[in-house]
Amino acid sequence: MPKILVTGGCGYIGSHTVVDLIENNYDVVSIDNYSRSFPKTLEGIKAITGKDVTNYAVDLCQLDELRNVFQKERDIVGIIHFAAYKTVPESVAEPLLYYHNNIQSLVNLLKCVTEFGIQHFIFSSSCSVYGNPPSLPVTEDTPLGKAESPYAYSKQIGEQMITDFVKSGQTAGFVLLRYFNPIGAHESAQIGENPIGVPNNLAPFITQTAIGKREKLSVFGSDYPTRDGTCIRDYIHVMDIAHAHTLALQWLMDGKQTNNPEVFNLGSGNGVSVLEAIQAFEQVSGLKLNYEMALRRAGDVVAIYANNTKAVAQLGWEAQRSLNDMMLSAWNWEKRMAEAVSKQ
Ligand code: WQD
Repeated sequence: MPKILVTGGCGYIGSHTVVDLIENNYDVVSIDNYSRSFPKTLEGIKAITGKDVTNYAVDLCQLDELRNVFQKERDIVGIIHFAAYKTVPESVAEPLLYYHNNIQSLVNLLKCVTEFGIQHFIFSSSCSVYGNPPSLPVTEDTPLGKAESPYAYSKQIGEQMITDFVKSGQTAGFVLLRYFNPIGAHESAQIGENPIGVPNNLAPFITQTAIGKREKLSVFGSDYPTRDGTCIRDYIHVMDIAHAHTLALQWLMDGKQTNNPEVFNLGSGNGVSVLEAIQAFEQVSGLKLNYEMALRRAGDVVAIYANNTKAVAQLGWEAQRSLNDMMLSAWNWEKRMAEAVSKQ
């Protein structure tokens, strides 16, 4: 089985992708220093797949430690790089932390691509590289916008670093996957989104409010120029995102790449407002969510959703799960976490 290194394999999207890779007969090793994740995630992966995934708790910014992993795991054929800090407000408050971590880790990984002859590399990018897009839906050719945060800028820089690395004559094949808004959890509720502290993102704040961990959800802005005054996003099930990585890896390994790097939007193609997302949650949970309309949040994009036809056509990918599936799986995961705490 081809061996794949997943960085951030204990994180939200990383862990779901590890599950999908294993289920598609890949051998997986992970690097995750648990700075934004938990070792317990490995138990969830084992509960689903039966596999003990080796995780090296190594800081990607420490090149010698990273090299040691590649020296131990000599048959790695591909890398899927998730490990990065991704909290937008935190990146505004601590830009140097974000630029150092997100950029130095990528520099070190690209050095290892050269030193250890890694052939395939998938980079976790983001729709936030588009900023406030001039027209919708966004395609991969939509010009990159002004990054609304150091986080978003670190993703733009990462994409440019990889482009320049390829131009310098490197032969590895690169794919840049621009996620829209991943939400939800694996249907087993063994793994899911587990933000540290108060959630910044909508879906975990909804489920934590519903379970009673948060008193009320604030809807950031009700006066936007949208159909109901709240921001529009393209929510996409994390397992659909995960499977796109497996398909992109297979696409690279099958030699189907023509442009290097190749960029793909990973979104459902549906724009959904905050209020519509809340309504979907209320519908699947049978609960009335406690929320209030509040002021706009700085840096929020008014509306963004994907044209995903390139990933559909070239990767054979499709967003199979509905908004209701996303909200129900997120809710089941939140309830399971609450059960686990009550048993402690
Ligand atoms: C969604 C909408 C908020 C919380 C995320 C990630 C970013 C990137 C893109 C991967 C917005 C509103 C939120 C709340 C609210 N992902 N909201 N009350 O900002 O689109 O960015 O996706 O790279 O890393 O952060 O997602 O979930 O924070 O917000 O009203 O308590 O929900 O204003 O309109 P966002 P989000």
